[in-house]
Amino acid sequence: MPAVVVVGAQWGDEGKGKVVDLFSGFSDQVVRYSGGANAGHTMVVQGEKLIFHLIPCGALHPNIDCVLGQGMVVNPEVLIEEIDLLNQRGLFQPSRFLLSDRAHLVMPQHLLIDELRERGKGAIGTTKRGIGPTYEDKVARRGLRVGDLLSPARFRSKLEDNLEVLKPTIVALGGEIPDIAAVFESYMKFGERLKPIIGDASRRVYSALMNGSKVLMEGAQGTMLDIDGGTYPFVTSSSTVAGSACIGAGIGPTHISEVYGVSKAYTTRVGHGPFPSELKGELAEELRERGGEYGATTGRPRRCGWLDIPALRLAVRANGLTGIALTKVDVLTGQDRIQLCVEYELDGKKLEFPPFEDLDRVRAVYQTLPGWKEPLGDCRSIDDLPQNAKKYINVIEKAVQCPVTLLGVGPDREQTIVVRFPFK
Ligand code: IMP
Repeated sequence: MPAVVVVGAQWGDEGKGKVVDLFSGFSDQVVRYSGGANAGHTMVVQGEKLIFHLIPCGALHPNIDCVLGQGMVVNPEVLIEEIDLLNQRGLFQPSRFLLSDRAHLVMPQHLLIDELRERGKGAIGTTKRGIGPTYEDKVARRGLRVGDLLSPARFRSKLEDNLEVLKPTIVALGGEIPDIAAVFESYMKFGERLKPIIGDASRRVYSALMNGSKVLMEGAQGTMLDIDGGTYPFVTSSSTVAGSACIGAGIGPTHISEVYGVSKAYTTRVGHGPFPSELKGELAEELRERGGEYGATTGRPRRCGWLDIPALRLAVRANGLTGIALTKVDVLTGQDRIQLCVEYELDGKKLEFPPFEDLDRVRAVYQTLPGWKEPLGDCRSIDDLPQNAKKYINVIEKAVQCPVTLLGVGPDREQTIVVRFPFK
């Protein structure tokens, strides 16, 4: 059975968790393939709201196999806290979790560097979870990996080498070098705890595929935060697009059959960086409150704006989307008019896609559509939607040349209209 990828089509926080949670009910395995504790999803466990950063959203389905792939950067302390949360609720069975031995470890020096840099003038508004510095070390071939936790001598030697290289950076930023012995001791304890779930994740995913299991690949962040194709340098440090699902899970592209891109019916962004369709003032405030637009990881208020079609076109192209999951459509209820940023204008030229550098200089060009007043929470099929909501969806589909295959009409799992399920 081929794999299905769920990817963020905007700047993250699109509501991927809800879509993954829904599809997980029809999957045998869920794999997270990139990023780290910069992601955050709120999950309702036995009526209680819990926030997870590393554990895949699908983990709450008791029979699903959960894999944290080699493309991730893992802070073991955070992972252990999440495992404890699951364990206390009877949802953690080591046999159904696998953490890739190849995933890179977020170390105290990475957290420190991220934090110190964010105090300076080069700040880009990161989540301060050590993501950038960890991926820097990975690419520089001096990173520490999860599998190293199981070999104390190797871990210690790599830790010493790593700190030696990072020392000048930490000193230049005004920080204090972490104590090697203390870091070593705490990470060895983490290793002991995580040992039962560390292994070859690529092999586990491949076996599942070969056995005919339904594999769901869960993306983190969004297309516009992709290190290569996003709004560089205001991006995260990993590949967030569907192609990286293969690399991060350790399987080949021929296994992927469908890619669902999750987009809100409007746009949000956290952190710095250009945002052409951003709203200011009352309307932004209204969307923020109605949509609960506050970061799950940092609690920061999200910047809000109209749906950005050029960015969504890029997501269709860069991920090879086979369907769009349009979330939070209900948040737009009550607007007299809805604006859709259909293209950009830059120096008198019309642009269908985000440009190389000048996204901060583009002017958003809007198409105005009539809004709707009816609440959408009880709609369970496209036919139940008010005429103007249907029209809004049709205009989006035409503009980006991709069908909307799922709609979110409220926070609950049932408040979803599934036009087409990815697993047939
Ligand atoms: P980093 O990933 O912490 O290095 O942050 C880099 C940029 O990506 C910042 O603008 C963050 O706000 C943004 N970012 C990282 N992860 C997420 C996410 O899960 N949702 C939304 N934005 C994110």
